Amino acid sequence: MRILVVSDIHANWSALSAIDEPHDICLCLGDLVDYGPDPAECVRWAMNHAHYSIRGNHDHGVAQGIAVSGDLGYRYLTRVSRPLMWDALDSEERRYLLQMPLTQRITVDGLRIFMVHATPRDPLDEYLRKDPVTWAKRVHNIEADIVCVGHSHMQFNLAVDGMVILNPGSVGQPRDGDPRAAYAVIDDNKIELKRVPYPVEQTIARVEASPLPDRAKQMIRHSLRSGRLPEAPAIIEDVE
Ligand SMILES: [Fe+2]
Repeated sequence: MRILVVSDIHANWSALSAIDEPHDICLCLGDLVDYGPDPAECVRWAMNHAHYSIRGNHDHGVAQGIAVSGDLGYRYLTRVSRPLMWDALDSEERRYLLQMPLTQRITVDGLRIFMVHATPRDPLDEYLRKDPVTWAKRVHNIEADIVCVGHSHMQFNLAVDGMVILNPGSVGQPRDGDPRAAYAVIDDNKIELKRVPYPVEQTIARVEASPLPDRAKQMIRHSLRSGRLPEAPAIIEDVE
């Protein structure tokens, strides 16, 4: 049984459609929307292809009509891109975002998988990278073999107290210095962290053609081409 695991697509259809991976089941760990130019295509893809989907903080914000304030980093990008999401999504797509659960617990071929976008303590917002000590505290009462998470846009695989924390990385906006789309495959208990190149300039051309402010376009260009944060590390506290 091959399980495709994707997360943090962020309305980047060129990146998502570059993933050509044979699989039996697809898990989607949230953040289908915000930042990128093609939210409807990405939400439709999840509606049609993801066997199990959970809600990310951006899905929640878009579905609930939450306007964001802020002038730095990703808060700024969220603030200016979110109204474009509301324009682009029809009511069915928005309803899909609204009904996605915060967590899912599934068993596939005896493998117990727990899905959450951020962390079990704070399913939408806690920002936690590859930190074994803190992850051990977060998952100590989760009965699972693999805990699948997203949110940090950092691809990793971490053994903690007899289970594995798997972050497939971000399909549509990697932040680890590698601009290729990131995802993971679980195949008979073996986890593969994978990357695939995609036509980044195609996404950038779509962004350029959008009504986003020039500053936002510049930040997205830099982020997608470099696979890094769009501004100085001082905004690290501010990531979403
Ligand atoms: Fe995200």
